[in-house]
Amino acid sequence: MNNAFPATTGDVLVRGGQVVTASEVLDGTDVLVRDGKVEAVGPVLDAPADVPVVNAAGLLVFPGLIDTQVHFREPGLEHKEDLASGALAAVAGGITGFCEMPNTKPPTTNPAALEDKLARAAGRCRADHAFFLGASRENADQLGEWETMPGCAGVKVFMGSSTGTLLVDDDETLERVLRSGSRRVAIHSEDEDRLVELAQGRPEHVTVADHPKLRDIEAAVRSTTRLLDLVERTGRRVHILHISTADEIAIVKERNLGELVTLEATPNHLFMCAPECYERWGTLAQMNPPVRDRRHQDAIREAVADGTISVIGSDHAPHTAEEKAGSYPNTPSGIPGVQTTVPLLLTAVRDGWLTYPHIVRLLSKRAREIYGFATKGPFEKGRDGDVVIVDPSITEPLPLSWLRSQTGFSPFEGMELAGWPVATFVRGRLVYAAHKEVGNPIGAPIEYALG
Ligand code: DOR
Repeated sequence: MNNAFPATTGDVLVRGGQVVTASEVLDGTDVLVRDGKVEAVGPVLDAPADVPVVNAAGLLVFPGLIDTQVHFREPGLEHKEDLASGALAAVAGGITGFCEMPNTKPPTTNPAALEDKLARAAGRCRADHAFFLGASRENADQLGEWETMPGCAGVKVFMGSSTGTLLVDDDETLERVLRSGSRRVAIHSEDEDRLVELAQGRPEHVTVADHPKLRDIEAAVRSTTRLLDLVERTGRRVHILHISTADEIAIVKERNLGELVTLEATPNHLFMCAPECYERWGTLAQMNPPVRDRRHQDAIREAVADGTISVIGSDHAPHTAEEKAGSYPNTPSGIPGVQTTVPLLLTAVRDGWLTYPHIVRLLSKRAREIYGFATKGPFEKGRDGDVVIVDPSITEPLPLSWLRSQTGFSPFEGMELAGWPVATFVRGRLVYAAHKEVGNPIGAPIEYALG
């Protein structure tokens, strides 16, 4: 299949595909990328003879798709994943850019740690990238100064403990974080006091099926309510990550704070539900906040479909199979997913509860608006020439062998596909096709329009 996708170095004409925009699917349409940037989109474009041509007849052509929540574990936890393997899994799944979370070892809590990640990513990542700074009691007042550094995705707050040591569990520190700087702050919203209370009262014998009780709805609701109070007081924009309860969605709607409060959902909460996921997958389905029962799944799906939830982030959170094989509650929380997000969303289109333009809104348009990407977004002249070509005729059960994360497992193994990304271009360069990486890693820092 590589023959169908010539290696490219910044110029490419993608001919005659079904081009997906944020609002429609344009049949028989061309996309021309010159010098790494989108030059034109339209029917039958002309290009100089030396521009490589890709025949996309019968294929879907998406703009670059950005995963705004991944954990790639480097530095310090490379036995789970590293920046090269995480980025490889990303482009293999049609993800052209990623924003990586700060709960590494050491955590990304200062400019030196951020620069270290950028240096590690250079020459090793096949996708474009940015890194979050983690908020802490110690750095709360400096975040406003640091958040504008090149390659910084913004600030991330853990209101409840999860993997790693980052935690801002009191309102006073959280308010200091929200008053320092102006970019949208990404929030893991679970109430630490409630989590501690539940852990202390934990019965002697628990299984992973109890995970949603040990990080319960009350923990999510208490935290989100505290957060919304502080958002109203400070006027700071926040993005609540991996929303897991119908209750929080209702509260956010009722408070009606508009673009001040935006929401993210993960594929895990959209495509799994309790108790089946724990029966089938055990601790492989364990994550924070937990996957809950169908009432929540239905509400999250509805909110994604109607735009109440604006962004999908995979929360790709790899652990090793050995770590996951331990006994609950000592097993780590987190599920790999950067490579399965786009394929899962394609199944939602097949099943009729999302459309192809939803995918562009969730992983491109709204991600751009919410985080302020300068050069990423739906196709538009002058933007980065990131292109994801999907073959909708690939409908076999997903084999594990296609997945490139170091983890080697996925709760979505064997799902009936409704399409698969067959070629991924970053700034006009083919980086992945026919289940293989192409060329050298050329990923670069994502640029942001700040202010
Ligand atoms: O399940 C999770 N795993 N939730 C998080 O918030 C962190 C993540 C991880 O880094 O393992």
